[in-house]
Amino acid sequence: MSDPSPVAEPTAKLLAQKIRAKTARVGVVGLGYVGLPLAVEFAKAGFHVTGIDISPEKTRRVNAGDSYVGDIPSATLAPLVSGGRLTATSDFSAVRDLDTINICVPTPLRKTKDPDMSFIVSSCQEIAHHFHAGMLVILESTTYPGTTDELVLPMLAQNGLEAGRDFFLCFSPERVDPGNPKYQTSNIPKVVGGVTPACTEMGRLFYSQALQHVVPVSSTQVAEMVKLLENTFRMINIGLVNEIALMCDRIGINVWEVIDAAATKPFGFMPFYPGPGLGGHCIPIDPFYLSWKTKQAGIEARFIELAGYINGQMPHFVADKVQNALNDMGKPVRGSRIHIMGVAYKRDIDDMRESPALDILLLLQRRGAILGYSDPHVPRLVLDGIDLHSAPETAAADADCVVIITDHTAFDYAALVKRAPLIVDSRNALRSFQAKHIVRL
Ligand SMILES: NC(=O)c1ccc[n+]([C@@H]2O[C@H](COP(=O)([O-])OP(=O)(O)OC[C@H]3O[C@@H](n4cnc5c(N)ncnc54)[C@H](O)[C@@H]3O)[C@@H](O)[C@H]2O)c1
Repeated sequence: MSDPSPVAEPTAKLLAQKIRAKTARVGVVGLGYVGLPLAVEFAKAGFHVTGIDISPEKTRRVNAGDSYVGDIPSATLAPLVSGGRLTATSDFSAVRDLDTINICVPTPLRKTKDPDMSFIVSSCQEIAHHFHAGMLVILESTTYPGTTDELVLPMLAQNGLEAGRDFFLCFSPERVDPGNPKYQTSNIPKVVGGVTPACTEMGRLFYSQALQHVVPVSSTQVAEMVKLLENTFRMINIGLVNEIALMCDRIGINVWEVIDAAATKPFGFMPFYPGPGLGGHCIPIDPFYLSWKTKQAGIEARFIELAGYINGQMPHFVADKVQNALNDMGKPVRGSRIHIMGVAYKRDIDDMRESPALDILLLLQRRGAILGYSDPHVPRLVLDGIDLHSAPETAAADADCVVIITDHTAFDYAALVKRAPLIVDSRNALRSFQAKHIVRL
């Protein structure tokens, strides 16, 4: 890690010294899937970290050393808390004692698919009440290009304080991939762009204390756009492969075999896989931040709209597959017992946000199915008139049809193939099994 170039201004010099000496008091606003791992990483690096979250339940659990984020074991969190390195509060007056703040609050979409900036605005308003000269503030929430400069900067640049001279403001996209055993907060390269070059430099210096690789870029807008490019790239490629899956299904070709063979090409091809639909807090949502912004500039984001439409068809396609498979067995979907394997939005995590399993459950319920599910990460599921508890995997034996929506590694697939009378596999989890009662996407 190279040492940052010297910063001339006295305020900058002082903050840079504190950061290098790890005496800077670090704050993280929003202790969710993104904020808690970040707070832990800086505490592990030797900083005193204060987490601020409006949820009293989350601050209570953090202060008890009891983690609610899958990638952070309580055994990692607890010693940081008991050693005084990490503490949590809902009281924003803690900002007065902080030198740095990372903002990791939600950025959902409104029903109209417009960005919901309310969490960023309310947290920044709270920060602004206690804001002081000499601070570094970094927005990490995924958002449209221009947010940091147009929305956050005016809230902080009050009372004559100037960014780059009296305080430092950056955007840094969060790239965490929950459940990924190889890449976690510390070893995912961190892109950071500031309002001024001095801001970028301060952001780079800060992250380089705790993270392995920092990538400075020339502006906050570039940093904001990086995240949207990454997630739009994924969303559109998933849309493409989902459309290929629909085509293959229609003409009777195994799409999984096609992708595996195409992936043997050592250049110019990157495999994406079809599935029951998009899920999670990023891929189904972030591209619409970009299309909202570009619409204002008179550009229709046509790839995004098209991929959004195709991906949105996948839960219907899976529900139709289930209905057709039951029909082939002489059973109507109405009154059939359908058991879902996995309801989280992806493998080995507990996050249900935007999970396609929710759409599929509702579609099958509307068609009159009797529903059950197994998911070792989601003990209970409450949704529009559905209230279910996760059943043991053996419950699959009593179902008319089992549907694999999330391919958790904890599932015993060999036992499932033996016990279930009919299986619709939307993830190719049963790739190594050949049997007449397996129906693939
Ligand atoms: N989860 C991911 O995998 C992931 C990956 C990359 C980027 N992101 C982005 O990171 C951001 C945070 O996502 P997340 O998954 O951590 O969300 P989350 O819902 O898990 O956590 C957000 C936290 O912010 C708290 N909060 C809400 N309003 C607040 C306020 N005004 N003041 C203080 N705390 C407040 C909530 O109580 C919650 O604990 C989002 O913009 C998301 O798009 C998420």
